[in-house]
Parts: sequence; structure tokens; C-alpha cells
Amino acid sequence: MARILITSAIPYINGIKHLGNLVGSQLPADLYARYMRGRGHEVLFLCATDEHGTPAELAAAKAGKPVAEYCAEMWEVQKELSDGFALSFDKFGRSSSPQNHALTQHFAGRLADAGLIEEVAESQVYSNADGRFLPDRYIEGTCPNCGYERARGDQCENCTKQLDPTDLINPRSAISGSTDLVVRETKHLYLRQSALKDQLAEWIDSKTDWPILTTSIAKKWLFDGDGLQDRGITRDLDWGVPVKRGSEPWPGMEDKVFYVWFDAPIEYIACAKEWTDAAGRPDADWERWWRTDKGADDVRYVQFMGKDNVPFHTLSFPATIIGSSEPWKLVDYIKSFNFLNYDGGQFSTSQGRGVFMDQALDILPADYWRWWLLSHAPENSDSEFTWENFQSSVNKDLADVLGNFVSRVTKFCRSRFGEAVPSGGAFGPDEQALIERLQTGLPAYEAHMEAIEVRKAAAELRGLWVAGNEYLQSAAPWAAFKEDPERAAASVRLALNLIRFYAVISAPFIPDAAARMLSAMNTLDMEWPDDVSESLAALPAGHDFTVPDVLFRKITDEEREEWQSRFAGQR
Ligand code: 2FM
Ligand code: ZN
Repeated sequence: MARILITSAIPYINGIKHLGNLVGSQLPADLYARYMRGRGHEVLFLCATDEHGTPAELAAAKAGKPVAEYCAEMWEVQKELSDGFALSFDKFGRSSSPQNHALTQHFAGRLADAGLIEEVAESQVYSNADGRFLPDRYIEGTCPNCGYERARGDQCENCTKQLDPTDLINPRSAISGSTDLVVRETKHLYLRQSALKDQLAEWIDSKTDWPILTTSIAKKWLFDGDGLQDRGITRDLDWGVPVKRGSEPWPGMEDKVFYVWFDAPIEYIACAKEWTDAAGRPDADWERWWRTDKGADDVRYVQFMGKDNVPFHTLSFPATIIGSSEPWKLVDYIKSFNFLNYDGGQFSTSQGRGVFMDQALDILPADYWRWWLLSHAPENSDSEFTWENFQSSVNKDLADVLGNFVSRVTKFCRSRFGEAVPSGGAFGPDEQALIERLQTGLPAYEAHMEAIEVRKAAAELRGLWVAGNEYLQSAAPWAAFKEDPERAAASVRLALNLIRFYAVISAPFIPDAAARMLSAMNTLDMEWPDDVSESLAALPAGHDFTVPDVLFRKITDEEREEWQSRFAGQR
């Protein structure tokens, strides 16, 4: 049994995430966590909300709430939605936790002690009326390019031109509207990533088994242009982790906080410290997951994220860890994803284009979405959600293939033999052929799951479902029953066992349906089918079962059309 630490990129707190966000990290991480648990490994699966930075402050201001209150409420919302999608986090933490404050300050202190932090003087816009420095996106004005009057200091939303705050005509504070702005000098802390470049390059080079998407992005940032840049790790904001050197004040940094991308990955570690059992007790041994001097050298650590997050996880966060000179666990494998597009364009949070997690659950149960998203995960290139494709996958794979198999077998058995596994008869060539098919297909499925090849795993699983249907078609127990009821009994016994088999191996993809299949089969036996033949005899003759309700319903053309227009934009 191995120990596996799994983290998903932590979603920003500002607002509900769309399906593209979900399939880029949390959902495949959940698939892997469930699979590894199913195989009997010890798993710690962590995620959290990413609560600091300008977007959180802006969203809170828009909602008219103090930022701490806004974050606490949005954490509840995101937690409820992740439960709705059956994301099986062992802990869903918060980057604003006291544990993360302390650890972030600790790392900054260690980096400073190692001479890896530098103070840099910068000029920045200060608002006299607001009494604070303004981040670029807190400054508004007229776009010099298109004349849009509400362009932001970093970019014009109207013409998409990237801007500098000094480009704006009639600049004003986005907080108060004041035009009393001056440019002032302010000091920031920089992490000297360039000093760690060789160590990082060597480490990346040693990762020969990583997906090309991951290593190519890392290498681009390491070597393109002027190479790895030092990085500002502090900001002039109120909300965030106050800049301290360990637990000591940091002279000159009193009103500053750490940059959100400095503290967010440290939350992966803090999250393990935030974990408590049902009685609210923390894990005194949490370091066995994170410190190589406390047992974590035996842990395999796998991270999941969208491609835009790769530079921070291959370079910046490792720079923090390596630079600390403490024995923290470095990631062993980074699974990264391309983007999911929506029906001919992009998902857009600001325009409400696409399906968001709450809306998805309002129209269909989680398993329908989990199956489509995972079986179409944007692994090798960006992929696209279309309603036609979604309807056809659900109707074919889930309703016609898996759902129909379960319904036919259980209903036929009930009508001819009653609601118990029938006895009698022996397996013939059809049964043998099916068992052989499963004996080759199951290891192929396992290999794809181990390698986190999500689409290939889904295709293999679908193939195993199809094999069951084909078997049923050719064994045709309903026809055999008239001539040779014993034969029909043997077929049905195998098919009922196959329902349990499918439940166990499909649970990582469709956990709710799997639970319903097991409950219909009146068993809690989730044992992985290491031996296929043995596993297909787990439910003995005489074992009671019930006919479940429809597992998956079909999506009608009317529904598809209605949803297509409902989610086209302007949420
Ligand atoms: O891109 C994002 O959604 C970020 N909130 C991910 C942060 S992952 C991390 F480093 F913790
Ligand atoms: Zn413009």
C-alpha cells in the first residue's frame, strides 16, 4: 500500500466556477483520488479556496460586503458545490486560515535568512483620498485606444488592449472615484528566483515522465528571453497575509501583504494542518505527508491544474520550498490540462457565458457532468463543450449502455427468477469470452488510471460496459429461458455480478450511480476485482437484490435546445 498526496489547484474565492474550471483541476484530481483509494492506497486529497488578492477585494466591494465576510460566505457556497459534485476532498481549506498565515510568514523568513529576498523600490500610483496605493486594476480612466470610459489600469475591457495606468486619460480611483492621484515610491520584497535557476532546471530535467504540456511550459519560463525573473512577493493591499519575517515584524513592510501567488501554494501544506477529525481534533502527525524528515519521502505527491497555473507550480512554489532549505516535500508529478471551450467560444465569467457549477447541478445530477467532462478532458489540446455532444454521450454511454444493462438484467431476473441471484447452470463459451475480454480490458483501464490518462481510461471503461451489453445480446437469457432455464440462470447470475463489478470500477467516474448500483445489489463489497473470475462470483446464488430506479435518463432534444439558449450569455 502506498501513500498518495493529491492536491487540486485552489479555486479563486470570487464567484462560482464554471465547468471549464472544474475539469481543469478539481474533477480529475477527484477521479484519481477515488481510484487510488479504491485500490487500497492511503490518500490525502486536499483543496481550498484561494482568498487573497485584488479579485477578492474587488468582488467583495461589488457585493457591498467586508472582504472577510464575503470570503467566508463564498467558501460556504464553493464547499456546497464541491459536495454537490461529489468531490471527495479530505479537507477543503481556506488560504486565509491562521495556519496559512503562519506558514507563509515562516517561509518568507527562511527565504530572507538564506539571502533570497531583496528589497526593491518601485513607483506606484497613490490615492490621497483613499489613503492607499492603488493596484493597476483599481485605477480607471478613458482608454487611449478606443475611448471607452471605464478602462482599467491593466487592460481595456472594451478593446482588450493591455494598458499601463499612466496610459489612461483622466485617471481616477476605482474605489472612491477620486482624481487626486500621485505617483509615489514604495518598497517591495522580491524573491530571487534567478539565484535558484540552476537547481530548478536540474530538478525539472529529472522529471522525464512528466506530461510534455507541463515540462514545456516550465522550460519556456526558465530559458526564454532573459530567463527566470525575480518576482515581487508583496503588495500594497489590506487583505492578505501581513508581511512578517517569521513571527517578527518586517521593518518598512508594515502596511503590506504577501502577493496572492506567494501564499496560495503554501496553502497546500497549511491545508493538511487545517484538517481535523469529526471531533475537531487536528492530525498531530500531519507532517508525515509533507516533511521528508518525518516520513514524507515515502509519499507520492501529485498535483492537478490548468496550464495557466503551471509556471507557479514548476518554478515559483518549488523556489519557495528549495529556497527554504527545509525538508518539505516537492511534487512528484504534475498533471496539467488545456482549456475547455464552450460552444464555439470561451467560457466567460464576466459575461455569464457557459455553464457554471450551480447551474449544472440545477439541471442534472453530478454524474452526468462528471462523465462528460472526464471523458472529454482537455488533455492533448483544448476541447469544446457542445450540447449536442453532451446529449449524445449521456444518452448513449450512460443511458443506453450502462443504465440499460442494469435495468434489463435486474428486471428480467425479477420477472423470471425473483429478486435473488438465481442458482443452477454452468458457464459456457459466451461467459468465457466475456471473462477473457474483462481480463484484458481491466488491466488496460488500470494502466490508464495509474498514468492519469483520463480520456483513455474513460474510453476503456466504456468498452467494458459495451462488452457486458454485447454478452447479454448474444447470451440472450430471455430466449434461452424457454428451452434451458438453467442456462438462463447462469447468464443472469453472471450479469448481476457484473453490475457489482461495474459499480466498483466505475465509482471514480460516477460515484453516485455506483453507490445506487451497489445498493440495488444489496452489498457494501467494494473490493477491487483483482481476480476477475473470482469477483464475478462475489454475489452467490440466493443473494437478494432489488431493481433500482432508472440510473440515467435521456436528454430530450427540447431540453438540449432550451439549455443551449439559456446558457448563451448574460447570466
Ligand atoms: O488559477 C487559479 O484558479 C488559482 N486560484 C490557482 C491557485 S493554485 C495554488 F497555487 F494554490
Ligand atoms: Zn479600449
